[in-house]
Amino acid sequence: MQPVYLDNAATTPIAPEVRAVLAPFLEAEFGNPSSRHALGVSAARAIDRARSQVARAVGAESAHVLFTSGGTEANNLAVLGAARARRSRGDAVVLGPSEHPSVWAAGEALREEGFAVRTLRLDANGDLDLEHAQSLLDERVILVAQMLVNNEFGTVYPVRSLARLVRRASPQAHLHVDAVQGLGKVELDLTELGADSLAISAHKIHAPKGSGALVLAGERPLRPLQFGGGQQSALRPGTENVVGIVAFGEAARLADEELEATGRATAAAREALLAGLEGITGARAVEAGSTQISAVQAIELPGAPAEVWQHHLEARGVMTSVGSACQSHSEHVSPALLALGFDPERARRVMRFSFSRYTTPEEIAGALEALLAIAPELEALR
Ligand SMILES: Cc1ncc(COP(=O)(O)O)c(C=O)c1O
Repeated sequence: MQPVYLDNAATTPIAPEVRAVLAPFLEAEFGNPSSRHALGVSAARAIDRARSQVARAVGAESAHVLFTSGGTEANNLAVLGAARARRSRGDAVVLGPSEHPSVWAAGEALREEGFAVRTLRLDANGDLDLEHAQSLLDERVILVAQMLVNNEFGTVYPVRSLARLVRRASPQAHLHVDAVQGLGKVELDLTELGADSLAISAHKIHAPKGSGALVLAGERPLRPLQFGGGQQSALRPGTENVVGIVAFGEAARLADEELEATGRATAAAREALLAGLEGITGARAVEAGSTQISAVQAIELPGAPAEVWQHHLEARGVMTSVGSACQSHSEHVSPALLALGFDPERARRVMRFSFSRYTTPEEIAGALEALLAIAPELEALR
């Protein structure tokens, strides 16, 4: 059987157009963008082009795109950099309830530096509890970080509404939005969102791993995490990852161009999967929040922990994940599932299927064939 890849929220295959654009930078175009000779100038131009492609994809200005090594570094730079730059104006930070470790662990580092860390809450539907958010916001707060799209369930959080609350109650605060799972899935406009910065990552949109960006809404106080040669306004120095950046630019351009096609392909994949799962008693879609993207669908599976299902699926060439890739080695139970009333045992039965514009009907049929074959095998073991 052909391998079936339904783990696109973890990472995505590289788009052929992206491969074509990056290829010269693995060969003749090897210049250092800071060099003054022709090769260097050519590399610098390629970065400029990528910068404007990335900026356009998120409704920002090129000058405010800082290329990083990925979403993790972009989140670290925003959370640590914005909080440290505002140290004299307040001492509290507010973090979303289901943030990626690159946000909440950076929050832990801030706690060690003396900041008070407050956490937003989800309501029983898995939506952001905005009333509770209001109660956490005050003049002491200098940073708020909230993801746009949840990596485990695809929930789209109401960042625009949160931004309005932040502006009113915490005027000194920098609002950072982790949009890693949103880019290419929902329309992204930094100004319209009302945020001060966005984190995005190349490998979630069909470019290679190791490239991402922190996009700022304008001049914002930010302490760098690295010190060096002054590249990128000294906010993120170091010789740029030209290959990764060029690839990211093209992938961002495509993500924008293919937004509707991605929506159609992922919705078709999700619907076909859910329809087929009706053949498995006890399999249920996890509804988390009032708005979900179609590219991610969590499913509660019957009879055995999702990890057991995952091993059986893998033996049949079907790749999925249990929770998110970054949490798959821990005993972590998703706060979103706890808010929805799942006890830890039920939470362990939840598997994540995630799709991309390259997901085919044949892949979904293959996954269903495997799931329908595994169900009675696991039932017999009980
Ligand atoms: C929501 C979210 N934020 C941040 C990241 C980290 O991005 P990167 O893998 O580029 O470091 C991920 C990756 O899984 C993610 O899903």
